[in-house]
Amino acid sequence: MILIGFMGSGKSTVARALGEKLNLEVLELDTEINILCGKTIPEIFDEEGEPGFRKYEHQVLTEACGSDGIISTGGGIITYDDSYEIIRNTDRKVIFLNAAFDVLYARISGDKTRPLASQSKSQVRALYDSRIERYKNAADLEVDTARGLEETINTILEYTRL
Ligand code: S3P
Repeated sequence: MILIGFMGSGKSTVARALGEKLNLEVLELDTEINILCGKTIPEIFDEEGEPGFRKYEHQVLTEACGSDGIISTGGGIITYDDSYEIIRNTDRKVIFLNAAFDVLYARISGDKTRPLASQSKSQVRALYDSRIERYKNAADLEVDTARGLEETINTILEYTRL
């Protein structure tokens, strides 16, 4: 299973809960990038820019696809064509976690660990709008996480019948 969705959609929380419930390993790609580079995400953005970050993200996605478990991605992974193609063509179930933009924004605004969230609200909104089509195209199932963790997990489990 691969979880995709914008920043603040709850990917990490949902991945952890599913991992515990199903006794599956969770691969958090942002963490894998930290381990690979020995740098934090803001450091990578500062020193190598978003293009540098996307290359690392593609590398850890490729590696993660070689192992079992639940893959929790970063919100911008689908903006990099090679990563988008992997997610669109995988045999794994791809779950798009979503919520109304205002809900997402309230969860991420002011978060210093997310370089792309520290822009104006309208800029973050434009980013969300620019990504939505790819999330939808890549996904097998879309879930509104504003309905709460338990309902989100139950909807996913029902769909995947695990
Ligand atoms: C990003 C989302 C982040 C992280 C990086 C870039 C994005 O992950 O990969 O800051 O482009 O939306 P989360 O979606 O887990 O916040």
